[in-house]
Amino acid sequence: MSDSEQAARERALVEEVVASFAGAESERLRELLGALTRHLHEFVRETRLTEEEWAAAIGFLTRCGHITDGKRQEFILLSDVLGVSMQMIAVNNEAVGDATEATVVGPFFVEGSPEVPIGGDLAGGAAGEPCWVEGTVRDVHGEPVAGARIEIWEADEDGFYDVQYADDRVAARAHLFSDSAGRYSFWAVRPTPYPIPDDGPVGDLLKATGRSPMRASHLHFMVSADGLHTLVTHIFVRGCDYLARDSVFGVKESLVKDFEEQEPGSPGPDGRAIDGPWSRTRFDIVLAPAR
Ligand code: BEZ
Ligand code: FE
Repeated sequence: MSDSEQAARERALVEEVVASFAGAESERLRELLGALTRHLHEFVRETRLTEEEWAAAIGFLTRCGHITDGKRQEFILLSDVLGVSMQMIAVNNEAVGDATEATVVGPFFVEGSPEVPIGGDLAGGAAGEPCWVEGTVRDVHGEPVAGARIEIWEADEDGFYDVQYADDRVAARAHLFSDSAGRYSFWAVRPTPYPIPDDGPVGDLLKATGRSPMRASHLHFMVSADGLHTLVTHIFVRGCDYLARDSVFGVKESLVKDFEEQEPGSPGPDGRAIDGPWSRTRFDIVLAPAR
């Protein structure tokens, strides 16, 4: 068979598979399956994928399935390290005015966090240097957003979220509401770098490609208010390691903030007595209109 006959046969198979979905009632489903078929076949054809490589890929996905349970989601982790999660965010959060940019949610958000008052401490016993965080929530017209729900979660200074410990602790996560002028503030712990879970197939992929599992130091936010688009984002510590090689491609320059070290032992902005070092940062949040 000539090269052109071979190529024609391969293309005919693609079209036959695409056509097999023609009976789908949903136009969107037809579109998605058609595009998936074309891109998947193109991948196989472009790389001239071998039978062994295909078997290895199936084995990899099978291992992802086996390690996934109610607490561990290896497929989302895979999407994260392939940059697909960030591409989803780019596609679904087109820039609106000066609205704050979004980034990955990650696997450690938990519904039902405790509420703390403005100025409260969400550490809940988590190890780490105290860190004062303050800012405002506004809409794209600059109007303060009162009563915005602000969810915050973060790892402790050892790099672990509360849900990664075997006990049932709730620490370094909470929610609070902005005041009538859109202001908020709280005590947290200064974020430090930590590795994403890398003891499964996704970790093997990172090792096989010489990539680090580390994430740049960050504090997660989810901010919601009536009539406004819910923002899921983090702030990153300026100058920390891994900003340029975050394992899930989550860093955006606009989200990198100064975490200013304060005089050790000096009182906090709310008069709190602090023994050792502490730092403070500011994060002014702008919410886009609901879509
Ligand atoms: C996180 O920041 O919590 C996270 C994000 C993506 C994958 C793993 C962890
Ligand atoms: Fe995180």
